[in-house]
Amino acid sequence: PTILRSDYRPLAWRVESVELDFRLDAEQTLVTSRLACVRVPGASGPLPLDGEDLELVSLRIDGAEAGECMRRTERGLEVTPGSDTATIEIVTRVNPAANTTLSGLYASKGGLFTQCEAEGFRRITYFPDRPDVMARYTVRLEAEQASFPVLLSNGNLVDSGELPGDRHYAVWEDPFPKPSYLFALVAADLEAMERSVETLSGREVLLQVWVEPGNLDRAGHAMDSLVNALRWDEETFGLELDLDRFMIVVVADFNMGAMENKGLNIFNARFVLARPDTATDADFEGIESVVAHEYFHNWTGNRVTCRDWFQLTLKEGLTVFRDQQFSADMLARAAGAEREASARAVKRIDDFRGLRAAQFTEDSGPMAHPIRPDSYQEINNFYTATVYEKGAAVIRMQHTLLGAEGFRKGMNLYFERHDGQAVTCDDFVAAMADANDRDMTQFMRWYSQAGTPVVRASGQWDADARRYTLTLAQHTPPTPGQPEKLPLVIPVAVGLIGPDGNDLPLRLEGDSAAGATTRVLELVEAEQHFVFEDVDAEPVPSLLRGFSAPVLLEIDESDARLAFRMAHDADPCNRWDAAQRYAERVILALAAKADADVPEAFLDAWGALLADESLDPAFVALAATLPGEGWLLERMRPADPAPLRAALMRVMRAIGERFADQWLGLYQRLEVRGPYRYHPADAGCRALRNLALRYLAAAGNEDGLNRAETQFEYAENMTEQFGGLAALVHSASPVAEDALDNFHTRFSSDALVLDKWFALQAGAWRWDEAAPPVLERVKALMDDPAFKLTNPNKVYSLLGAFFRGNPAEFHAADGSGHAFWAEQIIALDAMNPQVASRMARSLENWRRYTPALQTSIRTQLERVRDADGLSPDVAEVVGKALVG
Ligand code: ARG
Ligand code: ZN
Repeated sequence: PTILRSDYRPLAWRVESVELDFRLDAEQTLVTSRLACVRVPGASGPLPLDGEDLELVSLRIDGAEAGECMRRTERGLEVTPGSDTATIEIVTRVNPAANTTLSGLYASKGGLFTQCEAEGFRRITYFPDRPDVMARYTVRLEAEQASFPVLLSNGNLVDSGELPGDRHYAVWEDPFPKPSYLFALVAADLEAMERSVETLSGREVLLQVWVEPGNLDRAGHAMDSLVNALRWDEETFGLELDLDRFMIVVVADFNMGAMENKGLNIFNARFVLARPDTATDADFEGIESVVAHEYFHNWTGNRVTCRDWFQLTLKEGLTVFRDQQFSADMLARAAGAEREASARAVKRIDDFRGLRAAQFTEDSGPMAHPIRPDSYQEINNFYTATVYEKGAAVIRMQHTLLGAEGFRKGMNLYFERHDGQAVTCDDFVAAMADANDRDMTQFMRWYSQAGTPVVRASGQWDADARRYTLTLAQHTPPTPGQPEKLPLVIPVAVGLIGPDGNDLPLRLEGDSAAGATTRVLELVEAEQHFVFEDVDAEPVPSLLRGFSAPVLLEIDESDARLAFRMAHDADPCNRWDAAQRYAERVILALAAKADADVPEAFLDAWGALLADESLDPAFVALAATLPGEGWLLERMRPADPAPLRAALMRVMRAIGERFADQWLGLYQRLEVRGPYRYHPADAGCRALRNLALRYLAAAGNEDGLNRAETQFEYAENMTEQFGGLAALVHSASPVAEDALDNFHTRFSSDALVLDKWFALQAGAWRWDEAAPPVLERVKALMDDPAFKLTNPNKVYSLLGAFFRGNPAEFHAADGSGHAFWAEQIIALDAMNPQVASRMARSLENWRRYTPALQTSIRTQLERVRDADGLSPDVAEVVGKALVG
């Protein structure tokens, strides 16, 4: 069934308080819930209680059997109390060990954990499971002491003790009203790293990171990140931790990254555990950002939450923006004053690259939706790049338009007005508008229009008038259900580069004097002209600096001009972008013409980038990385993975061969000495050295391969060890197989490290044409004792890396990859619909492939659609893909 945003109605009842009592057991957990309910004055109607996969033991209203006052409905139960206040007591029984969905209460490695967002609480007890029902929770947990020595829930521990029969209990009280999706409990054998800090107002708070026994030496980075996040929110927004205790708990089986349950964040192990010899720089960075993200939710999400799930971007877009700003500030601080701008740019490029790869492609497919969708079938399918990443970009534009100070004023007003409430995206933008005296009516279209807007730019220089006229036009292509689009408010940060490569001071028509070299233009009409005065020579425009809007820029630029911007654009984001555009152009041309050579001019431009020692290694590592295959397929019509892969290989070989000396020189010069530290300068060097090995390995360069092997064998940190391994696998070298075996043996008991090992093989290219198809290896790896279809990390690293990260192998002409996809989706769906649905989405953009591939994919999409007992999750994805 389709749920519509326009169908929202407030509930006729309020739930004042919730008392939960858990008799925990792996197979039979008994849950007693006592709800103090009050009818909303003037409202009428029953109280609907959602429930899913529950065994109802009893339901009493004010102490009496419910009888006539209760009936079963499609979604659960409906209760009609006889008066305007009622205490409803519900007893249910659930089986955590049998719950493979990882939603609700489930077992993982002998412990019990919960995941309630979005609609998992209804899998624990009957409840009005919607975010606008905010209540105070008291939770009593009781369990056998030996199996479940640690008992945690939200808020403050108010009582605990031992019970006869080797049992024990704990009582937790959360002082803040919260929606049910923020409820959590943990009962497991865990150890805590603890730190106590003083908050802004001088309160002492206890921070804990709970991990499996033996893993405390991997918890330090998460703890440091938490402390940094806490400080940052105080300094940047004046927002303080509001509880006496804040806990992070690690779990091995988890559908997503992490969850912001009030005071009890639960994390996928991969976003907590890190030690230099087991985690890469990228892992350290990911941990810092996810720990901060969940912590920031305490205000943007928990204190002020969503009225309904259509408003998801209210908390997610805003919180992603906050974590991006935080990470940029952390990088800038570590880099030091001189390198600060470059460090920020690297983070910005990384974020934009992610947006382009995941969100722009989503926006051009059958699942395209506005950041605030109008309808959904299954809300779990809408934790998307659009809601998160484009949502963050929409918040960033408000930050750009209002300035940091104006944005802060808006945030202050937002909390002043809405603390403790469940609100909408309109409420957020209204606070921004009111605090800054600005009309943001047109801006709101970003919340309702799907699709990636296209900004078309052209410039005209008038030598006599010494004027440069920049014409910007915008349009948004149609998306499913939205044929017509209106003009948006698009902040376009602009610079003009003079022939000498330096930025011109800008004077717009009407300005009295020339000012900054970058200006933010506001494009609000379908087409607008912007006139710059005192322009003595034809400039090269640099548009959307810092990726000032989530749009696609179309501009006619010669190869020479791209090379010029690659060398001179003062905005590192646009320098990167120029390199990407040039590479995209060259690769797509090569894919269309199998016998063409890699153009010399392109190689020269690339060489200039490598030779520029003034650039930060971290930046060069990004700029010298070819555009992702997924993005290139998006730009290729029809998308044809095999010739594209061949073109990419040719370009990689050419860059590796032609610049072998530079790569080897960089490799030598940038070696990081001393013990590992997670630091942007060191990480940048490691990234560029690992990239050097990749190119050298692709070109079959012997020196390079030797270095990769040495680095793999002797590195003392995972970034370098895995970098060496990846380079070997990224070559036709016969050493690769031994190295893979060796790595497997070394880390056979480390699940997170093995995830990398699976992903590397599933995403491998076939540099040796005689090697068997990667599909065969993926199938074999599924039989590895470490692989489990029930563990989402394993599925994402093996199947995800193959379906999403290896298009040339996945889309093999014989259709074997597609048939395998269907088998796996059907198998996964029976266990875990959320994971199945995420994997299913890897074929949604099938209509852009060649006719032969389309035929093969359609057959498999239909096979999945027609499978028995398909979940609503997968049904929505496959259904929309087939409708188009
Ligand atoms: N709120 C969590 C986060 O942003 C994600 C939870 C996703 N849950 C889900 N069922 N899709 O970090
Ligand atoms: Zn979030």
